[in-house]
Amino acid sequence: MKPPEGELRHALADALRGFSQPELAAATAELVARYRQPRAAARAILSTPERVAAYAAYRMPATHAAMQRILEELAEGGFGPRTMIDLGGGTGAAAWAAAGAFDTLESILVLDQVPEALALGKDLVARASTPALRSARFERALVGGGPAGTADLVTASYVLSELSGAQTTMLLDEMMARGRVAVLAEPGTPDGYARIIEARRRFLADGWRLLGPCPHEVDCPLGVGDWCHFAARVNRSAEHRRIKGADLSYEDEKFSWVAAAAPGVMEPRARDSRILRHPSKRKGLVEFRVCRPDGSAGPAVVSKREGERYRAARDRDWGDTLPG
Ligand SMILES: C[S@@+](CC[C@H](N)C(=O)[O-])C[C@H]1O[C@@H](n2cnc3c(N)ncnc32)[C@H](O)[C@@H]1O
Repeated sequence: MKPPEGELRHALADALRGFSQPELAAATAELVARYRQPRAAARAILSTPERVAAYAAYRMPATHAAMQRILEELAEGGFGPRTMIDLGGGTGAAAWAAAGAFDTLESILVLDQVPEALALGKDLVARASTPALRSARFERALVGGGPAGTADLVTASYVLSELSGAQTTMLLDEMMARGRVAVLAEPGTPDGYARIIEARRRFLADGWRLLGPCPHEVDCPLGVGDWCHFAARVNRSAEHRRIKGADLSYEDEKFSWVAAAAPGVMEPRARDSRILRHPSKRKGLVEFRVCRPDGSAGPAVVSKREGERYRAARDRDWGDTLPG
């Protein structure tokens, strides 16, 4: 059973009722400033209850949207995990996304270093209708530590930028030791992409198979000044707009990602090209920029003359695959 549309938004509104708008706005401004500087965190960034609440109010809907987009693609590819561990899971965005993507999910364990984030995560899932979410466990653990255990799916979303090089190695070791399928997401910035490329290299070096977004397993073809990233639409609640001082009723969360399967667990699906930018749609023509199964990247044009392929291409967007 999946959480109904909007359930996380309602849970957030209920759980954050005790915080005043100025408190959340001030803590949001602190977090925005800190997250603009991607560098290892000497101390936990979510260091106060106000910061944890602000994170949940303004960032969690976005990290949830990015993870949901990724995990739904894996679900469409036939992946149906029963168990999940989320490393650096904070307030549980990836757990909500996984519950939204996989109705096979039975057990969820969220690990993080910040007790207040785990407590809020627990409070949020207590308001969920999905049994797997309601029974999710939230436990305190540092990357590389934590209770023993493996899972069909191990995730780490928006964690790498806070880690040192040694901690990143520990996180990747942990993902590969615990998981059958590993999913990493990072901000869709040049440095977020660079961290994803490092992780991709590590997965491949250890014999893991790439499930996405790349349609190949050779080196990334994107040149200097370009980076592989996608966007997920996030509808902003009125509260979200207020604490961020934003007018628009939505934002587009940019993210980079990689998903990989342990040797022998799952073969990559038949490879289709990956759409790297918003397509340009003109009368009788759709122009894409794609990453191709042969490991190259460049333009792809689909014209009306191609019939069925054109009709399919017209519905495809940035981040989707392009058949043929
Ligand atoms: C930007 S938040 C992301 C939270 C959540 N994964 C999401 O997508 O919304 C980064 C999280 O990583 C956790 N974290 C950072 N370093 C950690 C470490 N060494 N051990 C455990 N958790 C860590 C932080 O406490 C924080 O909750």
